Amino acid sequence: MTATVSGSQTVLQLEGVTKRFGGFTAVDNVSFDLPAGTIGGLIGPNGAGKTTLFNTLAGMIQLDAGQVVLNRTPIHTLPPHQIFKAGLARTFQIPRPFREMTVLENVMTAPANQAGEKFWNNLLRPRKVAREEQALREQALSIIDFCDLSRVSADAAASLSGGQLKLLELARVLMSEPEIILLDEPAAGVNPSLMVTLVDKITELNRRGYTFLIIEHNMDVVMSICDPIMVMARGRLIYHGDAAGARQDPAVLDAYLGDLP
Ligand SMILES: Nc1ncnc2c1ncn2[C@@H]1O[C@H](COP(=O)(O)OP(=O)(O)O)[C@@H](O)[C@H]1O
Ligand SMILES: [Mg+2]
Repeated sequence: MTATVSGSQTVLQLEGVTKRFGGFTAVDNVSFDLPAGTIGGLIGPNGAGKTTLFNTLAGMIQLDAGQVVLNRTPIHTLPPHQIFKAGLARTFQIPRPFREMTVLENVMTAPANQAGEKFWNNLLRPRKVAREEQALREQALSIIDFCDLSRVSADAAASLSGGQLKLLELARVLMSEPEIILLDEPAAGVNPSLMVTLVDKITELNRRGYTFLIIEHNMDVVMSICDPIMVMARGRLIYHGDAAGARQDPAVLDAYLGDLP
């Protein structure tokens, strides 16, 4: 599980990204670059437009103006599965596993390059498919192990705790070996000890070369692992810089009514 990083090149570049719902501008002309190998933090009060921005980046909703470039490839015109293939993977604010399937099945069926999914491969190259299924299983097991889910590998996803579900989401995303991972509120609904685990996993993956963009309300998490930090309020990007600067920035303090949570 290693991703390739070269220097401080930009992985993700947003230019004037804008999304309107009717007459309401949920994301208003947002621009920033995210360098490879960083953990970017996207914060802002509820309703600021963070999740909408994630949805536009992942192609789930079309942007109205602007562009998104992933490793020099414009992706804002692509459908979600092609954006995913290009290397941008996201998790959801509310995890969406297959609840009746086991943890291992959930991870094994996460989108990856599976030869077994192609009908003709099954028919014409059964041995290759069996080999690849075995490789897939091994990859899934090692990711499950990395995510501390080995103990519940054979359990139904429905039986997992909130924190374990977040780890399962992360495990599923890792199967595709993405260039950049977007996490929407990874710490929400996670008990304190699993939160430490989750933060450890994110920082360990980051050390291995993965780039993250994280929406998070837990300021301890954001301030300790995220750099750069982007702050949105009412659809606009009002701050882009380091954690120390965010704490003193008048516009940021104003957006949080004078007090960072
Ligand atoms: N599909 C939608 N249709 C209309 N308004 C939406 C839709 N999705 C989000 N919004 C609005 O856009 C704003 C930003 O929402 P959201 O991106 O979820 O904020 P955040 O994630 O920062 O809390 C909110 O005012 C929300 O009500
Ligand atoms: Mg949100």
